[in-house]
Amino acid sequence: MDEPEWKGPLGEAFEQALAYLEGLPERPVGSRAGLEELRAALGGPLPEQPVEAREVVRALATAAEPGLVASPSGRFFGFVIGGAMPAALAADWLTAAWDQNAGLHVAGPAAGVVEEVAGRWLAELLGLPAQVSVGFVTGGQMANFTALAAARHEVLGRAGHDVEAEGLIGAPPLRVVAGEGRHDTIDRALRFLGLGSAAIVPVEADEQGRMRPAALRQALGGGGGPTIVCAQAGNVNTGAVDPLGEICELAHQAGAWVHVDGAFGLWAAASPRLRPLVAGMELADSWATDAHKWLNVPYDSGIVVCAHPQAHRAAMGVRASYLVHAAAGERDEMDFNPEFSRRARGFPVYAAIRALGRSGIAALVERCCGLARRFAERLAAEDGVEVLNQVVLNQVLVRFRAADGDHDGHTRRVVERVRQDGTCWMSGTTWRGQAAMRISVSNWSTDEADVDRSVAAILRCARQTPTL
Ligand SMILES: Cc1ncc(COP(=O)(O)O)c(C=O)c1O
Repeated sequence: MDEPEWKGPLGEAFEQALAYLEGLPERPVGSRAGLEELRAALGGPLPEQPVEAREVVRALATAAEPGLVASPSGRFFGFVIGGAMPAALAADWLTAAWDQNAGLHVAGPAAGVVEEVAGRWLAELLGLPAQVSVGFVTGGQMANFTALAAARHEVLGRAGHDVEAEGLIGAPPLRVVAGEGRHDTIDRALRFLGLGSAAIVPVEADEQGRMRPAALRQALGGGGGPTIVCAQAGNVNTGAVDPLGEICELAHQAGAWVHVDGAFGLWAAASPRLRPLVAGMELADSWATDAHKWLNVPYDSGIVVCAHPQAHRAAMGVRASYLVHAAAGERDEMDFNPEFSRRARGFPVYAAIRALGRSGIAALVERCCGLARRFAERLAAEDGVEVLNQVVLNQVLVRFRAADGDHDGHTRRVVERVRQDGTCWMSGTTWRGQAAMRISVSNWSTDEADVDRSVAAILRCARQTPTL
């Protein structure tokens, strides 16, 4: 075998990545290529013969580039998508180069220790109990899944049922009491866990999407038995946070496990100024959050945290005769993750926390919230533009009124026109029956100029959008 040639492909990847990243401030934010164009550029028959590695990388980058959405751009405000901070991105490259299988301590002790350290830092940063267990998963979806698996273990265990051994057959009924404003990944996690979305007892939410404590009290009063309460920090539309302290108190009085889905909203805890929004969150039993959103770590990176390490481990742990399991004091990642073999995704999280520090993370979160308010103030000042939510975090819902009264249709057309314009990128939603533009400010590099340029583009597009 010839000596492997690393510099060619890696050098090409570095040059291509740099050109992309340095071009972000000026390139159109949306994808410029259509489906057929991309299929033509990237498709073709199965290659029969080898191609030189550098050439593969160059051709891939050239063909894919027009079909990229510049989601790491400071003017990308779609869904809830963070960018990739330089330290985290570089650590992610190393993660690929090191190619550790972060399932077992023995297969990559540095990866294991980095997860241990980053997990401890996170708990401290978010003000969570020191003894929590932490798993580094692909995203909020799997963080919710993992936490709810631990919850299922615990509440059924207390009722004398071993769900890991017996499954759900013969198990006592399990209620999942969750706010109407919950994220759809909660329902999906419950499907994966064999509970089904029919297990959910929905709790009325207020006009911002926050669970109403009085409605929770009523729901909990309607029968005992194993119960999980799903609360939320950061409604995906409004950014609103459930009253977590009150929810934990009521739920614990009823013997329930409280899970907090805080995919992005949990990061409010890292800011002394915003922390009151999530007051009481430390009383919960499990938490789900993302590093690929507000911490600006590259995809994919979610985090599950559990106040009951035994339940977490019982739900996820695995043993196999051919594996070399952790010795005393060591930690096998697969005991806290649904994956077996997996990417060492603790490295970029560690690098992001190390690069920003406690003060930098607080500043990032506060800056995004300040910029969201700037969006809201500037847009709401215009005739025919309405902000639908209280901007408590980084989310803004905007509605465009039409002379002909078709505000929904007009709003959807404005969102589409803004995306075509390319200055910035937003998605739409329907909030309490009304179409709205969703603006999520989650990127580390977004500044006032990005917001002002985007506001100008949005208003220009709104004026140019005819009412039909
Ligand atoms: C509240 C909430 N929970 C869960 C998720 C799902 O997270 P992920 O896309 O990382 O799986 C999201 C995504 O936006 C969210 O906002």
